[in-house]
Amino acid sequence: PADGKANIGVTGLAVMGSNIARNFARNGFTVALHNRSVAKTDALLDTHGDEGSFIRTESIAEFADALATPRCALIMVQAGSATDSVIDELASAFDEGDIIIDGGNALYTDTIRREKEMAERGIRFIGAGISGGEEGALEGPSIMPGGPASSYEVVGPILEKISAHVDGQPCCTHIGEDGSGHFVKMVHNGIEYSDMQLIGEAYHLLREVGGLEPAALAEVFREWNEGDLDSYLIEITSQVLAQVDERTGSPLVDVIVDQAGQKGTGRWTVKSALDLGVPVTGIAEAVFARALSSSLPQREAGKSLPSGATNVPLDTGDDFVEDVRKALYASKIIAYAQGFDQINAAKDEYGWDIHRGDLATIWRGGCIIRAKFLNRIVDAYEENPELRSLVEAPYFLSALTDCIDSWRRVVATAVHAGIPAPGFASSLAYYDALRTSRLPAALTQGLRDYFGAHTYRRTDAEGAFHTLWSGDR
Ligand code: ATR
Repeated sequence: PADGKANIGVTGLAVMGSNIARNFARNGFTVALHNRSVAKTDALLDTHGDEGSFIRTESIAEFADALATPRCALIMVQAGSATDSVIDELASAFDEGDIIIDGGNALYTDTIRREKEMAERGIRFIGAGISGGEEGALEGPSIMPGGPASSYEVVGPILEKISAHVDGQPCCTHIGEDGSGHFVKMVHNGIEYSDMQLIGEAYHLLREVGGLEPAALAEVFREWNEGDLDSYLIEITSQVLAQVDERTGSPLVDVIVDQAGQKGTGRWTVKSALDLGVPVTGIAEAVFARALSSSLPQREAGKSLPSGATNVPLDTGDDFVEDVRKALYASKIIAYAQGFDQINAAKDEYGWDIHRGDLATIWRGGCIIRAKFLNRIVDAYEENPELRSLVEAPYFLSALTDCIDSWRRVVATAVHAGIPAPGFASSLAYYDALRTSRLPAALTQGLRDYFGAHTYRRTDAEGAFHTLWSGDR
């Protein structure tokens, strides 16, 4: 701006915040910088101060003064109470109509609350999910901003400019009201969990049953990355498997402790899905598989459990690699179908005007789950925005049709060989449940009516029925 003020401010200059601030500056915006401890601000200016136009500030008052009005500030501090206190400080220093964007990994219910509190104080609040890690933050992340559409009109162009771009389209769009941006980011992370779990299962089967060593597997994943599975996660799987440990000369994957960590967004996704009553089995299995890997006493206790006969003839001919690829692809389709169902349910529950096709569009670049596959989802929702499930879209129906035989063979092989494949197996169970015309839920209803008089509905008449079960007499 002509008065020498900043277009945007960033407070919280740890790794993500610093990189986003640099991204803004590299795109020609003047950026006001603030961090609780000035040392981080100065470190950023020392190393990257020449990348664009920055304004150094030491206090929130100086920060507010450096910003052109209406003010626009991005918070990149730790999620939770730190975010609350920074929001409160900013709101006190800002004027009516100014905009605060929370770019942290906030829980969507916190964002809903904060948006309401800020609206009462006349401050416009945007909860923006930002995906892409350190590199994405600097080079162009995928950004999922939620809040009033009128606020998005002000900050949208700035955020879209710094986001990743695919085919000339920004990987940033207005998601919906209040917590919708952080909700969608959360489900994105849940889907990321399931993608990684499925990749892990494919690796495990190809190694244990298929007999392929990491170097050969790196090549398999590299080839897969040239087809339908083309994605960032498959690409880096190939690189992780190819990595040799300097200290031992072994494949690095064999030196890494097999206990997966988690920061909580997968767990949040599943908790929300439980509340919404949406079966996100693919994501849930992935979260539980990480928990299981870290359940050390149980793993210790189970170490000598018998496998039973695993020497059954395994169907691991030349086509096994292709079978596993298809099992992975089909299971991935199911995991995405479930995640999109969850978003659709939240849309109804919270009254958000979310367009599912837009999400696939902005996940095509910048973020961890970026994949060619997402173009197919964009097409599917373009063709029919009201899809009841991704599985009914013609492209996915034909992909599942193409994969189903391989998928069954791979799950059967895993069971025979005693290799856990909960992602593949539960996705196939979900698929089969969708196909089944009469589910055993009828019996469940009978049992519920028997012991609790919960009543049931009949196939041939309206209303609720209760039976005097003969066992009662
Ligand atoms: P990362 O994981 O990228 O390191 P983080 O832990 O999510 O980042 O957030 C760290 C940032 O939050 C830092 O900028 C930190 O400020 P300091 O450098 O002064 O420690 C900031 N932060 C954490 N708690 C804060 C609080 N209560 N008030 C203001 N800033 C806070």
